[in-house]
Amino acid sequence: MKVMVDTRKCTGHARCWAVAPQVFTLDTDGYNVTLAKVVPKELEALAQRGARACPERAIMLVED
Ligand code: F3S
Repeated sequence: MKVMVDTRKCTGHARCWAVAPQVFTLDTDGYNVTLAKVVPKELEALAQRGARACPERAIMLVED
């Protein structure tokens, strides 16, 4: 699985990071700068929860 973040939609809620800090990276202002990242199997459930936590729907999950 891969996570992809539409940084144009991110408004810095940081909920993704609060749920899944192992998956998402924020800049010093709290904006998600992950862009695209392959998620290891053991973190997939966490990544899904983090994506669902984003109120801006800025995070997409792409299956392999
Ligand atoms: Fe941005 Fe959504 Fe996370 S607005 S910081 S991607 S919770």
